[in-house]
Amino acid sequence: MSKDVIIACDFPTAADTLAFLDKFTDEKPFVKIGMELFYAEGPAIVRQIKDRGHRVFLDLKLHDIPNTVKKAMAVLSRLDVDIFNLHAAGGLDMMGAAVEGLTRPDGTRPLLIAVTQLTSIDQKRMEEELLISRPLEEVVMQYAANAKAAGLDGVVCSPLEAGRVHQVCGDAFLTVTPGIRFADGAAGDQQRVTTPARARELGSDYIVVGRPITGAEDPVAAYRRCVADFVGQ
Ligand code: C5P
Repeated sequence: MSKDVIIACDFPTAADTLAFLDKFTDEKPFVKIGMELFYAEGPAIVRQIKDRGHRVFLDLKLHDIPNTVKKAMAVLSRLDVDIFNLHAAGGLDMMGAAVEGLTRPDGTRPLLIAVTQLTSIDQKRMEEELLISRPLEEVVMQYAANAKAAGLDGVVCSPLEAGRVHQVCGDAFLTVTPGIRFADGAAGDQQRVTTPARARELGSDYIVVGRPITGAEDPVAAYRRCVADFVGQ
């Protein structure tokens, strides 16, 4: 699996998203579509972006009982998406059911990765609200190991956790890492940020980059800078 930069297209409408993607005339970036855009525009926006030749990570973070997730995944498998995700907190049975649901009759399926703990949950919240008293890193690694045991392909995690995830789950288990900023850029609401070059050193397989590209004066130049720093072209 080659390293790549995924642009988080956190726009409210299809028109905004397609206008943004129109700026890329020489390359076809890998695109992440999140809940806001998908709930606003439905599967049509996924098809439009795929028809333009982009790879798509559909970031819907499924979390429900196994049967419901399996059926939802079966519907989603009809979209020609490259990566889907779910919450590892749904448990091993739910993740296993998701893999079954996502697998097409010909045996192929998109990559499926798990969210471990959201970066908005810190140790204090985990202990006081969720009553999980183990160290956060231990919880993240347990969730990653569960995802691997259930047959998933990787996790969404911090670049700072990527090396440990690879130690626990193997080098082929994907680490898809948001929280990326240029050294000279604003962190915004991300708490712990890493540069594209550092994410590469730490072993991330894919970096997910939103505002440093979507909010840049020249998004194509910002994307190319990310690719050069992370992939090394
Ligand atoms: O704009 P920015 O680069 O912060 O965007 C990061 C993207 O990655 C957003 O779409 C955000 O929802 C997503 N994400 C994240 N942290 C996680 C999981 C997903 O920032 N733990």
